[in-house]
Amino acid sequence: MSRLKELRKYVDAELNKMEDADKRTSAIAHLYGVSLASTMIAKKRGLDPEIAAMAAMLHDLHAYKSGSYDDHAHKGSDLAREILGELQLTDESETEMICSAIYHHDDKPATDSPMDEVLKDADVIDHCLKDTSKVVKEKEQARFDKLCDEFGMK
Ligand SMILES: [Fe+2]
Ligand SMILES: [Fe+2]
Repeated sequence: MSRLKELRKYVDAELNKMEDADKRTSAIAHLYGVSLASTMIAKKRGLDPEIAAMAAMLHDLHAYKSGSYDDHAHKGSDLAREILGELQLTDESETEMICSAIYHHDDKPATDSPMDEVLKDADVIDHCLKDTSKVVKEKEQARFDKLCDEFGMK
């Protein structure tokens, strides 16, 4: 089994513990949506698509498990470190890359490391493209505009 598949098996089991069916469905859709977008963006930018996808699968897990978005990026980074330590799928530098991306993902105005940027951009892609009839949030507009340029989307 690939390590991405192994991580997804773990994340799926965690998400399946969520009692509210609607929240569970959106959580699954969001993590898999961001994971696919991360893969695409990482490949386009010459970064590791597998690490990008793994970071995406874990990025909001703390919020879903706790039911709160308070400081969920920083807490989620700690949770990811625990999970990756337990599953032993990544080496030290890969774990750092994944935890850093999750740590920074909620700070959308800042520009961080290339892999951090992949996760932020993938999060924005999922928010903005899963329903194009919805208005893009003001805090995501600038990043979304840059992505539209990069990917030739009008
Ligand atoms: Fe988040
Ligand atoms: Fe997210």
